[in-house]
Amino acid sequence: MTTAQALMDSQVARLRTLDPRLPSTYRLPSGEPVMARLRDGSGVAGIAVRTSHRPGSLQSLWSASESAELFPLLGDHPREGMDALLHAWREQLADEGMPDRDSSCVVTWPSRDVEATRALLDHGFTPLSCLAVRSTPPGDAELIPRPPGTVTIRRAGPDDLDTVVEFTLKELEYAALVGASVHRPDAATLKRTAAHVRLHGSGPDGRDPVWIAERDGVPVGLAECGWTDTAQHHSGRRLRPGRWAYVNCVSVDEQARATGVGRELMATAHHEFARAQVLGSYLYYNPPNPLSSVFWPRQGYRPLWTIWEVRPATAVR
Ligand SMILES: CC(C)(COP(=O)(O)OP(=O)(O)OC[C@H]1O[C@@H](n2cnc3c(N)ncnc32)[C@H](O)[C@@H]1OP(=O)(O)O)[C@@H](O)C(=O)NCCC(=O)NCCS
Repeated sequence: MTTAQALMDSQVARLRTLDPRLPSTYRLPSGEPVMARLRDGSGVAGIAVRTSHRPGSLQSLWSASESAELFPLLGDHPREGMDALLHAWREQLADEGMPDRDSSCVVTWPSRDVEATRALLDHGFTPLSCLAVRSTPPGDAELIPRPPGTVTIRRAGPDDLDTVVEFTLKELEYAALVGASVHRPDAATLKRTAAHVRLHGSGPDGRDPVWIAERDGVPVGLAECGWTDTAQHHSGRRLRPGRWAYVNCVSVDEQARATGVGRELMATAHHEFARAQVLGSYLYYNPPNPLSSVFWPRQGYRPLWTIWEVRPATAVR
């Protein structure tokens, strides 16, 4: 019988040859074991974790209320292994009785592992989000000459709370149409609390970097960012260890889109990230978003992990 450690070791080695920017170790959460056997008699395994996102939690804005997540250990069998494991998981979930509304099945998997992609698609999963990364090119730290007469970018402070909340809510409204986000009744309160924390800076690095773009003194865009130490953040297990910059929300007023506001905001952010000497920057975007799926690759971001979902959880095949 193949041990979980042997599956993990061969999986990590295989994935690192597919994508050298993946981390070299993974921390598995504790949860329910899932097992499956392949045609050649070998085994694959996984850990299944159930999570409830109660009303009033920030995660409820980007997750279904009840979610079941699988952490697969497939060794060298990405396609047959993922297929067999998803069959086994589906039977386990049927016994558990997932709700048929506001629920999801989630598998986060390296974007470049297309053999596993086939199995996920066959089981009804959709690529709702991806974690994308950008390394800092050497030129980023140099001063950016900005032509006069375009937008003005300035750092946001506590007095900008209303503006920041307004832009983050517009982004949520758009994102809820094209991805995993959900516009909950308490969204405005949750966004206000989160923005307050960012702008007042209770974290170890002080205030998080948030920028506002203005045209003729009127706010037209927002870039809300932060710093992540992989040892302390849940995204950490997906990134190479170290300090990263995190792009949480970029939102441009509908009338001002496609006129270079987003590009100007990110030029300023990338310049600041380079000065802070982070390993790189990362963010989540939704592949079905017709704006961000073009914008982020143009900004140098590329998918590292894809977050596959079936909603509701009972629709898994
Ligand atoms: C995504 C968003 C932030 C981009 O900001 P923007 O100010 O419109 O983008 P820019 O004008 O700076 O355009 C930069 C690049 O994006 C692409 N782009 C922008 N608007 C586009 C459009 N309508 N169609 C296709 N591509 C577009 C272009 O390729 C452009 O690159 P180029 O000019 O170098 O060719 C903005 O469209 C937005 O707020 N969208 C709604 C909310 C959202 O999706 N936020 C991101 C969540 S991850």
